[in-house]
Amino acid sequence: KTYEYVKVEQRGRVGIVTLHRPKALNALCSPLMKDLNDALRAFDSDDSVGAMVVTGSEKAFAAGADIKEMKDLEFVSNYTKNFLADWTGITSIRKPIIAAVNGFALGGGCEVAMMCDMIYAGDKAKFGQPEIKLGTIPGAGGSQRLTSLVGKSKSMDMILTGVMMDAVEAERAGLVARIFPADKLLDESVKAASVIASYSLPSVMMAKEAVNKSLELSLAEGLHLERRLFQATFATEDQKEGMAAFAEKREPAFKHK
Ligand code: HXC
Repeated sequence: KTYEYVKVEQRGRVGIVTLHRPKALNALCSPLMKDLNDALRAFDSDDSVGAMVVTGSEKAFAAGADIKEMKDLEFVSNYTKNFLADWTGITSIRKPIIAAVNGFALGGGCEVAMMCDMIYAGDKAKFGQPEIKLGTIPGAGGSQRLTSLVGKSKSMDMILTGVMMDAVEAERAGLVARIFPADKLLDESVKAASVIASYSLPSVMMAKEAVNKSLELSLAEGLHLERRLFQATFATEDQKEGMAAFAEKREPAFKHK
């Protein structure tokens, strides 16, 4: 399928979604968000895909929600139509998603990157939540996800002053998992996604579920969930294969990919 605002491509078992609205630095207008969610959902239900990468351009991952589309909205319609409720689609994708961020990830762009499972950054990446400069505040999880990633003080600094974080600082703060030279970022992200996609899919999905639940559950509930999921992996052929392969000093051949 082809989309207007995203490009899709598959390399091996990795689905790549590239945000593509170059004239507006990938500003996230509603049709772009629909295309992004549709493309990710299609990969999520495609058995030949085991992990995904979401990326943008060298200049911008995404410069935020579309300010021009948003500027005349009113409270009553925001509330009755539940503006931004449809932005959470990414968080219901069950296979892992790597956000490969080059250039600006601002406002909604930073929030979309944080909805992915991890962020790899190009060395020129810039992260920010500059909504305060527009007279508003983050609305797609910025105040919550950024705080759990970088802690209260750095999150307050970004959200209250609008200051941006560069790649090095974002990595040091825990927002970014790894940094690569900008021109290597996509290949390295696809390489990591391919590694994930080579493992047993049910275990990969359980691992993602367990980590994500750590942000929502109490420690006791999270540990309970983790132990039950861990126990459940022993019902898969792939656990038998993975451990037998280790004992026999050979590479595992996972069935459920
Ligand atoms: C609509 C945008 C846009 C945006 C850039 N453009 N960001 N259009 N919404 N968020 C458009 C510009 O209007 C311009 O269009 C074109 O993209 C190129 O941008 P320039 O500003 O000319 O580029 P540059 O001078 O290089 O500056 C880059 C920039 C700047 C620093 C990233 O564009 C910028 O500050 N953008 C806004 C960032 C922001 O405030 N994001 C948060 C949005 S609020 P024309 O037609 O003039 O060429 C938000 C709310 C989240 O995200 C709430 C939940 C979703």
